[in-house]
Amino acid sequence: MYPDRVVSGMRPTGSMHLGHFHGALKNWIKMQSELPCLFFVADWHALTTHYDDPTIIERSAWEMLIDWLAAGVDPSQATLFIQSKVPEHAELHLLLSMATPLGWLERVPTYKDQIDNLSSKDLATYGFLGYPLLQAADVLIYRASQVPVGDDQVPHIEMMREIARRFNHLYGKEKGFEEKAQDAVKKLGSKRAKLYNELRTEYQQDGKDDALEQAKAMLDDAQSLSMIDRERLFGYLEGSRKLILVEPQARLTASPRLPGLDGRKMSKSYSNAIALREDKDVVAKKVRTMPTDPARVRRTDVGDPAKCPVWQFHEVYSDLATKEWVVKGCKSAGIGCIECKQPVIDAIVKEQEPMHERAQQYLDDPSLVRAIVADGNDVARKLAQETMRDVREAMGLAYS
Ligand code: TRP
Ligand code: SF4
Repeated sequence: MYPDRVVSGMRPTGSMHLGHFHGALKNWIKMQSELPCLFFVADWHALTTHYDDPTIIERSAWEMLIDWLAAGVDPSQATLFIQSKVPEHAELHLLLSMATPLGWLERVPTYKDQIDNLSSKDLATYGFLGYPLLQAADVLIYRASQVPVGDDQVPHIEMMREIARRFNHLYGKEKGFEEKAQDAVKKLGSKRAKLYNELRTEYQQDGKDDALEQAKAMLDDAQSLSMIDRERLFGYLEGSRKLILVEPQARLTASPRLPGLDGRKMSKSYSNAIALREDKDVVAKKVRTMPTDPARVRRTDVGDPAKCPVWQFHEVYSDLATKEWVVKGCKSAGIGCIECKQPVIDAIVKEQEPMHERAQQYLDDPSLVRAIVADGNDVARKLAQETMRDVREAMGLAYS
């Protein structure tokens, strides 16, 4: 009914590193040539955790945009914009908040995790609790069908689907259908009718897929129904309302995750990151000083790649022959660690060369980035306004 569309965002909270590239940007770059894509700087999302230090947000936003362009995000294919320049996201967030149960937000795994992890910050705020709902608004406002994200974000996408489903359920009613469907429910007989209504509610309001399956099975063996009523009841189960908002799907990256230099998650705050546009001498130095299998104290000690973060880099960067050379050489002490690291250094430097080149024009002339974003803001805003017209009308706010 609506065209396929891709939406994703990133928080501008610091400079981008190779973890972002392999974890997200590569996926974006692949998708931009397949489908219409909207990629945005999630500056409001950055404020949910950096509300006490907002000065880094604007600077990081411009830096991040250069990093995206350097990595190969192509403004002639994808729309690049800044979240706060499309204030309709905030309006949709507000309207969605009216019917979003608190429990849905409280049970999102990242909520408690982050509160525990960032214990130095007070995240018991209204804004932070609403983070996944704002994210839902970001995606639903474009009726996006696909959202490229990392696996940590999958629960957020699931919640978005529930939000969209509930919205359509509450506000997408069409005249006449409802009554006919309810008459058909009565024809099921009181026991079945009651069960049907319960299962339908469970599916539509709480997103329980097994309730849907159970209800369908029940309809299958309800002999007394006419064809037409049966179809109505199937439709009524899944909504059969106007689909004002679209349920999006998560699109995960296929490539293996690139950890940080110490084997933990790559993150600037752990000082274990290689920046996206790192100087090549710094790349070499950082890789050369990476920890290795602690069992290899001396060159003559054998090691095990499974216990070495350098190996995970080979998994991302090396071909089969190189990987065989590593495994053999490490387990027999046939190669030294510095030797082992060289192909990784070479591969990273090679990967980054075109990024440095592409970034240069934007560093020389920052107005280019401004212009790309100004265009993107306009394109995004038009699409957002179309959806908001339907949303306002459905919620009784048309005032025409
Ligand atoms: N929450 C995402 C992250 O931390 C960023 C984000 C905000 C996002 N809004 C989004 C991602 C919408 C995809 C779609 O990485
Ligand atoms: Fe790690 Fe390579 Fe050294 Fe083995 S040889 S411990 S894989 S760096």
